[in-house]
Amino acid sequence: MKEIVLSGIRSTGNLHLGNYYGALRKFVNIQDDYDCNFFIADLHALTTSTDPAALHASVKSVLAEYLAAGIDPEKATIFIQSDIPEISEMYLLLNMHVGIGELMRTASFKDKARKALGIATGDSQADDSEEAFEREIIGASTNKRVNAGLLTYPTLMAVDILIQKATKVPVGKDQLQHLELTRRFARRFNSFYGVDLFPEPTDFDFGGAPVKVPGLDGSGKMGKSEGNCIYLTDDPKVLRKKVMRATTDEGPQAPNSPMSEPVANLFTLLELTSTPEVVTHFRDAYADCSIRYGDLKKQLAEDILAVTTPIRERVSDILANEDYLRRVVRDGAERARARASETLKEVRHIMGIRPL
Ligand code: TYM
Repeated sequence: MKEIVLSGIRSTGNLHLGNYYGALRKFVNIQDDYDCNFFIADLHALTTSTDPAALHASVKSVLAEYLAAGIDPEKATIFIQSDIPEISEMYLLLNMHVGIGELMRTASFKDKARKALGIATGDSQADDSEEAFEREIIGASTNKRVNAGLLTYPTLMAVDILIQKATKVPVGKDQLQHLELTRRFARRFNSFYGVDLFPEPTDFDFGGAPVKVPGLDGSGKMGKSEGNCIYLTDDPKVLRKKVMRATTDEGPQAPNSPMSEPVANLFTLLELTSTPEVVTHFRDAYADCSIRYGDLKKQLAEDILAVTTPIRERVSDILANEDYLRRVVRDGAERARARASETLKEVRHIMGIRPL
């Protein structure tokens, strides 16, 4: 019996380098050795997406990008979250054991809620903004609204994992808090009902630390809502332009100076995509002040293209093959539903939802 791995990516547009290094690349690497289940989180995408046509198109493009990156449907179960209605039912049931306080304290909720309300994220006035945040959340002084789905996002994610009884969850660093909540919910459910139903899942990085792929604008994380992404499907011209425009600084002024965040970010990207020799070359050049950021960026753009080009070239062929795409997710849903419905049956019984 292979260990059960599960992970998903939201269908909110094309996949970017953060998705690739945080998740997709790992999916491809482990599919031979584990019982792998990879899905497209379209219900999660609904928490921030309000355009039905865009959502629908994105489910298809993420699926094509999964396949183009090398996930093999003969080895891994690939499915669309909303094709498994058992997930939605268990989401309702598990929510009865989740506190709104713990959900409101989740970093990603605060972040997304602030964005939805147009409140700046914490700085020197963190206390003020925290109070403002709580007032705004209950709608004290705005007609903007934070939808309840955003609040209960971690419940839904926990259900994705627990309904398959997965023990390993390959994700990027930004998802670790959600995984911690999943473990807490699993423990709580087991102990409340005195059962041993759910295993506690852990993140999965084959020994390495979970990665955070930085953005090109000097900020922390590459992300769609940050508007700083390099997409796997970016045309080479567009990609080169994005990299050449990345934020830097005036250059090291003295040997062995500390690095500013934007420059450190470029090195992080270089470490992910280039050879160790290339990284050492530019690190040495930074240390002795001979570095030219233009050269570093040119090299970085070419190394990123070496990763993305084969994927981009495969995507359009795969997208054109609608029958194939449909077959992949139909077979995947069948397999994923089999296990999900078993677990849901157990959960219903344990909670007292039983036939008369
Ligand atoms: P999503 O769609 O935001 O991101 C998908 C995956 O990409 C990773 N990622 C990154 N990793 C490193 N650096 C970055 N800049 C970066 N940006 C994104 C994320 O960590 C994630 O692994 N909640 C999940 C989707 C989900 C899920 C699940 C995952 C729903 N249910 C169950 C695992 C198990 C999410 O928002 O992913």
